[in-house]
Amino acid sequence: MLVNTLLNVYSALPHTIRKMTVKVTTHDMMYMVQRFKKSNSSVKDMDWGLQNRLSRIIRQPKNRALMLAVDHGYFLGPTARLEDAQKTIAPLLEYCDSLMLTRGILRTSVSPITNTPMVLRVSGGSSIIGKDLSREDITVDIKDAIRLNVSAMAMSIFVGSKYEYQTIVNLGRLVNISLEYGMPVLAVTAVGKDMGKDARYLSLACRMAAEQGANIVKTYYCENFEEVVDSCPVPIIIAGGKKIPEKDAMELTYNAIQAGAVGVDMGRNIWQSDNPVPMIRAVQSIIHQDNDADAAWELYNQLIQET
Ligand code: R5P
Repeated sequence: MLVNTLLNVYSALPHTIRKMTVKVTTHDMMYMVQRFKKSNSSVKDMDWGLQNRLSRIIRQPKNRALMLAVDHGYFLGPTARLEDAQKTIAPLLEYCDSLMLTRGILRTSVSPITNTPMVLRVSGGSSIIGKDLSREDITVDIKDAIRLNVSAMAMSIFVGSKYEYQTIVNLGRLVNISLEYGMPVLAVTAVGKDMGKDARYLSLACRMAAEQGANIVKTYYCENFEEVVDSCPVPIIIAGGKKIPEKDAMELTYNAIQAGAVGVDMGRNIWQSDNPVPMIRAVQSIIHQDNDADAAWELYNQLIQET
């Protein structure tokens, strides 16, 4: 009876309010974890670890995330302007909330004296010149992720592809092992060459990732992105995609945040810019200071003038 009344009240709420109430925020997760701890004290330290790691990626006070993606080499090799990863990453590290990369680049190209949380790509197996990009497996043992002191592990699923089954089962398995160690899992909804990127498809892929237990889902921005966000019970971040003009990338970021994404996992639109530091700072201002694209663009130009 009470539940029905609450559901009726909820259904009558405007869309924007529903979005705010339904999204599971980091704060909500802390509450749920606390409840879980009460009923299962033997895993309390692990759950604290899970929560602590997540809160380093999705930051307070607004539950927002600026992840810098530099993992492209895992299937693309030396991507333009990421040939010397150390050189590309160093000036940007202080401006991102977390860095997404492979263990090879982490060990060779990032100073261990950093407080920036790392999100480790743990899937791979295909290359851009190979037969099928979707044929990925888990390539990193969780022990290595822990040895590297990372804050999350990331892998791709390829919904609708030839290797859909394999990648989805891999996600389930990664979540199983990650739960034992309190390690968050970021699922990347990868899109093959011939696949669409519309709200219907992306909603399907994101929801499936969340159903397997992913803690965060990374996807692409699209028209009617609210639908993707609203039907996914865990936080969503968007990939930047191919390099586009800076102002367009700022608009993409702003629109995604307005639609309910918690942030971005952006790569090429930052480090392929002619002005990577002003660019990441402009994107940061949208994510953390609620700047719109015009204000961010102004900041971007001002920072260029100052350098
Ligand atoms: C792609 O699979 C990689 O995971 C990238 O991290 C991702 O595409 C985000 O980078 P970008 O903003 O360059 O698309």
